[in-house]
Amino acid sequence: MEPLAPLDAYTFDQPRGPADWEAVSDICCSTADSGKGVGPERREFFAEYWVRPYERLAPEWTMVALHEGRVAGYLCGCPATARFVLARHFLIRWPLFLRVCGGAYPGCPDAAAFVRRFIGLARDFNPAHLHVNVDPGHQGRGIGKRFMELFAMRLRQNRVPGLHLVCGDGPVGFYQSLGFTELASLELKAGARLHAMGLILG
Ligand SMILES: CC(C)(COP(=O)(O)OP(=O)(O)OC[C@H]1O[C@@H](n2cnc3c(N)ncnc32)[C@H](O)[C@@H]1OP(=O)(O)O)[C@@H](O)C(=O)NCCC(=O)NCCS
Repeated sequence: MEPLAPLDAYTFDQPRGPADWEAVSDICCSTADSGKGVGPERREFFAEYWVRPYERLAPEWTMVALHEGRVAGYLCGCPATARFVLARHFLIRWPLFLRVCGGAYPGCPDAAAFVRRFIGLARDFNPAHLHVNVDPGHQGRGIGKRFMELFAMRLRQNRVPGLHLVCGDGPVGFYQSLGFTELASLELKAGARLHAMGLILG
């Protein structure tokens, strides 16, 4: 195994163009199901659902960690969830809903679940949120923590009072080590819970 690169071998920046956004989608699809990848039948919809809204609506808030020119991890987020959710609803989710109803993403269970959910959609309007993933070959050397520090710093500069996220069991300890507390949790299936985590920014 190659020796781990030190954190200062990474640069943190905005995605440089479409290829970096593709890399963000790849890492999302390869890690975001509690650290595991999603199957090939889910990848296209998964990226469309989880990455594309940030690419279209708040690209300046996404960060990538670059190592030897390649994307090693990313943080997608936005400072004002209410505005983002509203724009996502009309500009992205409605067109997506219509595409799925028209037969796009055949056989994708997430697309079918999305349609069921969308019909009875009710959204909360909380402050900032995020999701963050680092490629497995680059985990454990401070990239995730650095992303979180950078994101929190920008939120503070924008007077955003707090942030929240929803995650599986795997990363709960990571968020707790950064000061998050568990707001609520829900048993999805035997042995697997979903956790709502929150952090007040001082
Ligand atoms: C969770 C994740 C983003 C953390 O990024 P990372 O770069 O590997 O984490 P860091 O090296 O910055 O770790 C920061 C601190 O959190 C701790 N930590 C990291 N992952 C942890 C975990 N799963 N459980 C408990 N603690 C963890 C580290 O030990 C470190 O502690 P320290 O500051 O006391 O030394 C990354 O491991 C990942 O992408 N995992 C798979 C996908 C995932 O679960 N993403 C979260 C989706 S909500």
